[in-house]
Amino acid sequence: MCRHLGYLGPAVPLAGLILDRPHALLRQSWAPADMRGGGAVNADGFGVGWYTDDVSPPARYRRAVPLWTDASFASVAAATSSHAVLAAVRSATVGMPVTETACAPFTEGRWLFSHNGVVRGWPESVAGLAAELPTVDLMTLDAPTDSALLWALVRHRLRAGAAPADALADVVRAVAAVAPDSRLTMLLTDGTTLAAVTWWHSLSVLEGADFVVLASEPWDDDPQWTSLGDRLLVTATLNPAPDVRVRALPPDPDTPKRTPMTDPVVEVHLPEDHAARSLAADARAGLSASPKTLPPKWFYDARGSDLFEQITRLPEYYPTRAEREILAARAPEIATVTGAHTLVELGSGSSEKTRLLLDALRDNGSLSQIVALDVSETALREAVGALASEYADVQVTGVVGDFTQHLGLLPGEPARVVAFLGGTIGNFLPEERAQFLAATREVLKPGEWLLLGTDLVKDETTLVQAYDDAAGVTAEFNRNVLHVLNRELGADFDPADFEHVACWDAENEWIEMRLRAKKALTATIAALELGVAFAEGEEMRTEISAKFRRDGVSGELAAAGFTLEHWWTDEAGRFALSLSRAD
Ligand code: SAH
Ligand code: AVI
Repeated sequence: MCRHLGYLGPAVPLAGLILDRPHALLRQSWAPADMRGGGAVNADGFGVGWYTDDVSPPARYRRAVPLWTDASFASVAAATSSHAVLAAVRSATVGMPVTETACAPFTEGRWLFSHNGVVRGWPESVAGLAAELPTVDLMTLDAPTDSALLWALVRHRLRAGAAPADALADVVRAVAAVAPDSRLTMLLTDGTTLAAVTWWHSLSVLEGADFVVLASEPWDDDPQWTSLGDRLLVTATLNPAPDVRVRALPPDPDTPKRTPMTDPVVEVHLPEDHAARSLAADARAGLSASPKTLPPKWFYDARGSDLFEQITRLPEYYPTRAEREILAARAPEIATVTGAHTLVELGSGSSEKTRLLLDALRDNGSLSQIVALDVSETALREAVGALASEYADVQVTGVVGDFTQHLGLLPGEPARVVAFLGGTIGNFLPEERAQFLAATREVLKPGEWLLLGTDLVKDETTLVQAYDDAAGVTAEFNRNVLHVLNRELGADFDPADFEHVACWDAENEWIEMRLRAKKALTATIAALELGVAFAEGEEMRTEISAKFRRDGVSGELAAAGFTLEHWWTDEAGRFALSLSRAD
């Protein structure tokens, strides 16, 4: 679906921008890395526009042949230098002509323009918009294609005096309104300013000391490349150092402002008898197994959620503080890169740290919806009630559900960031983790984001103390699962008969929490008509909390269809937050 590039900087040979880099447009014409929405090659033509001075219209070279077949261009490109360039390789949408005049860049006066994507429902969907143009513009379209019409719409606004970014924003909004699911990433330059809008297709930025490049795909593996999120407006100038500004696409100024919404919607996806039925199944299976186990989600009734909040404030329990430190430092960057409209938080608990992210997204102008999902109904209702009053102009939805079952039912408009914080992913067994990541990837569109908190492998003493605090709060949290069994299934466990155990499994690199019977006993679970015998010293596993390394996390994300774009740790390197893009 086309690839393009814009450059501002010192005069350099065109070949250095378009042909010579390891993953330059030349390579992207036959081996693009990110062809969202189909297409395998960009071989239906190419074009380059470049500026020769500060006043003349740019020079332009276009051909309806694959870039790699044009040896004459290679020779000219090696000998031609410019300080401002816009280049594109084309993959024609089915039904659209393969001709030189359909190749970007399109131009008028000093302007060069390129579009990467497709207008859905072409041509009927945008006939009304086209009708706003002067007839002569329609009669002289460069080609009967969606990209040529987009250029005519942008040009019409530029002629009326709109700033480049405003012209792009206005056209993208107008087209997306009548042709939903269109892909409308566009580049525009006058040789001094480079403007872009991202709408579904990828765009990366590279800033050097005296140059800036915006490109569909990085031309090499320089870690300075930053992949931009969806629905962003970008403007870049040189003063003489690059000044790159990225902001969320502003809402249509004609759209009436939403009235404050203080009543959050809470959707309940767990049946009334969920605790009884699902816990009954888990308890029957887990307590009959050898060794005995119970899934950790059953810690979290109202009391369990409250105990977890107390844990987060314990001196020994560093993960919450470490993750908060990272969020405080990186939230603005996360907001800029993702430009998210919706923040979906899984296992949200109190959503306390999440506010750092929400504030940054709100400051960025992009936040319009918050979706929080948790299995703990009381904790969730309390959290979304507070969020709704603090973020009064944002739609807040709570979902009472299980993140291993209900991801497909989550509301929320793209562009979304799914946040899974706190290291909760470590509470899955490895195979459950893979299933969870794959299911998360399944609900996201390419280009949307996963923000994942992972606790890191470290010395055993620090780890064990974090799960066996001096005040005994974690022990109470652990034993809470017995209170839940007693209440929900009519069991007769005496929690005092069980000792809290936290140990480090060096082979699996996880902390294991267990409950150890202080004496031989038999508990009865009335709802299951089951007697469960414990030998003295017998242990039941209640939680694993896996600790991670960067390679493992990026490998598991890649296997699920995500590309890890950012990896941040706290100063002390105890905890990591990673931001990954759905491929
Ligand atoms: N994200 C918060 C809370 C972490 S505690 C933080 O970082 O501090 C883990 C949270 O996940 C709890 O609120 C718990 O109720 C929720 N949870 C545990 N298992 C769940 C499941 N299977 N589905 C949905 N929520 C779950
Ligand atoms: C929610 N989860 C990431 C916590 C953890 O650290 O594994 C739960 C917890 N268990 C004991 N203390 C905290």
